[in-house]
Amino acid sequence: MKGVILAGGKGTRLYPLTKITNKHLLPIYDKPMIYYPIQALVDAGIRDILIVTGGGYAGDFLQLLGNGRQFGLTSLNYTYQEGEGGIADALSLAEHFADGQKICVILGDNIIEKDIAGAVSDFRKQESGARILLKEVHDPERFGVAEILKGNVVNIEEKPKQPKSNYAVTGIYMYDATVFDKVKTLEPSSRGELEITDVNNAYIRERSLAFSFLEGWWTDAGTFDSLLRASNLVSQSRQKAE
Ligand code: DAU
Repeated sequence: MKGVILAGGKGTRLYPLTKITNKHLLPIYDKPMIYYPIQALVDAGIRDILIVTGGGYAGDFLQLLGNGRQFGLTSLNYTYQEGEGGIADALSLAEHFADGQKICVILGDNIIEKDIAGAVSDFRKQESGARILLKEVHDPERFGVAEILKGNVVNIEEKPKQPKSNYAVTGIYMYDATVFDKVKTLEPSSRGELEITDVNNAYIRERSLAFSFLEGWWTDAGTFDSLLRASNLVSQSRQKAE
């Protein structure tokens, strides 16, 4: 399985921190944000990784990460998203890299405590379709939210005002090769983006969306509060481990 990290977008919610750098290069405790999704993929046994980035500071990723030697990798792949057409638009740029194989996608601002090796292994065994990772949260209206009926995810709503559950769809998605055909059928949402939630709902309509629950803490880091929270969570985990 190949890995894809989506690290494009403008990071406007973190302005002015993102005025002169890319959001994913900002620090989370003692490392740049982008280190965490790379490590998550490597810990799950995925070594063939594409980073999709964008904006004016894309060259800084190459300078920071090079060929990924600090993660035990021998090479890293990079591609560039023009504009910020949404998460699914960034994902569409991975079609050539995926080359018909299954992929594990992580949003560049998602930070996790434990590893995702179990879910990745389950997806390796899954013949086709997709697998998402859910996490119970107290503020589901900030995320894609899963509606679960009789053990199945029957619908996902993006940032609903009245969430149907407390289960957020985390930014970790596993897809078969049909994902790129699904992205091609999407229309921009009211926020002008191609939404990953629409991709996942397309799999639900085909009855081929599986899910796992994510273990350990999970946070995004795209707002001032969540950026601070991410640093604090990493720091506390480090102290516990010492
Ligand atoms: O964090 C999980 C949530 O991420 C999910 O629950 C939501 O369903 C999903 O839509 C997404 O929500 P956000 O609105 O928080 O996503 P955001 O626009 O902050 O983008 C998250 C990452 O995706 C960002 O760090 C980089 C990447 N991205 C985003 C956009 C809009 C791109 O690579 N290109 C883009 O054009």
